[in-house]
Amino acid sequence: MDPVRNPFAPGAGTPPPELSGRWELIEQARVALDRLKLGRPVKSLIAVGLRGVGKTVLLNEFRLMAEARGYYCLSLEAHEDKRLPALLIPALRRLLLDLDRLGALSEQAKRALRIFKSFMSGLRLKYGEAELTLDVDPETGVADSGDLEADLPDLFTAIGRAAADRQRHVVILIDELQYLKEAEMSALIMSVHRMAQLGLPILMFGAGLPQVVGLMGRSKSYAERLFDFPRVGALKDTDSIDAIRKPIQAEGEEIEPDALNEILGWTQGYPFFLQEWGYQAWNTTARSPITQADVAKATEKALTRLDQGFFKVRFERLTPRERDYVRAMAALPGTGSYRSGEIAQALGVTPQSIAPIRNNLIAKGMIYAPAHGDTAFTVPLFEQYLRRVRPD
Ligand SMILES: Nc1ncnc2c1ncn2[C@@H]1O[C@H](COP(=O)(O)OP(=O)(O)O)[C@@H](O)[C@H]1O
Ligand SMILES: [Mg+2]
Repeated sequence: MDPVRNPFAPGAGTPPPELSGRWELIEQARVALDRLKLGRPVKSLIAVGLRGVGKTVLLNEFRLMAEARGYYCLSLEAHEDKRLPALLIPALRRLLLDLDRLGALSEQAKRALRIFKSFMSGLRLKYGEAELTLDVDPETGVADSGDLEADLPDLFTAIGRAAADRQRHVVILIDELQYLKEAEMSALIMSVHRMAQLGLPILMFGAGLPQVVGLMGRSKSYAERLFDFPRVGALKDTDSIDAIRKPIQAEGEEIEPDALNEILGWTQGYPFFLQEWGYQAWNTTARSPITQADVAKATEKALTRLDQGFFKVRFERLTPRERDYVRAMAALPGTGSYRSGEIAQALGVTPQSIAPIRNNLIAKGMIYAPAHGDTAFTVPLFEQYLRRVRPD
């Protein structure tokens, strides 16, 4: 079949041809956006799920909905080695300058700019001249203590008041939230809390790996009341079938039921894998309809590409001792969740002595704790990869 017309879109954050099975979540975000515009209380949303389930795609979808409603949108992505202020400052600076320029003089917008300047001096961030050049005097004594948990809520309050004064609504979208440090998460939660209490027009949509829930709970126990944590997981069979069949049919082609079943078996409904299998199945098939035999050929290609890409890059980011740990996990029977004690036992060490390695793997976003004393991979089908390829 013509590869030019291949509709499938394997890739990080790439919009799928059919956004399957996420209707409820999209509706939840829409309601939050519309409620905030009416000045009603809203909960911020944090989409939680494994790698490749479509969290980034959802955040992008939320952004489009927000833009269509006239929201000012800030999209950020946390990184392991970038701190929250460094992430926020360029985006907030742009927002503040825009709010300031938006119309006649606004004392709230000017004040927010001054507080922003105090915030930066408080953190004594090493920024390029361009970033620091702000033609205002700092508002001494506000948001400049250098303690992020005290300063960030002050800064957000000022920004929220400026936005309210301009009658603008703002949504901050933050991806990969699991990479924030506890104090950063805490500062962010306190900021959202303050804005909710004051009824300011700023909303947050986030996404992260499952460890984000624990991180938030440890940072601030009231986080649960402020945020909803919708789970984003593998798609149900009917939604997986839609994800594959609809794009094929939209191109005037067909796929046989056996072929669909074969794809469901390999992908287990994980969106990234569905895109990969759909993509390969399309390209390996000479002429529509796509049959089970076509999918069998596509499977070889899909596995090779995943083993040399998606899975391999994650394995290669691990240190030798971390590799031993994940290999020990994969050597245990079963899939999904493993007892941490059994992993330690398999390595011939005590759980306490291996805890630092396990913590590093959690911080790197490789594993998480689905329940106390349990350990699972954040990458679906990762143990199958380790068993199949036995990388060293
Ligand atoms: N609901 C969906 N239906 C079908 N494919 C999807 C869906 N959501 C995401 N995808 C596909 O899955 C892949 C991974 O999406 P992404 O948003 O990067 O996942 P995550 O951010 O959770 O790691 C992309 O190729 C995307 O096109
Ligand atoms: Mg993502």
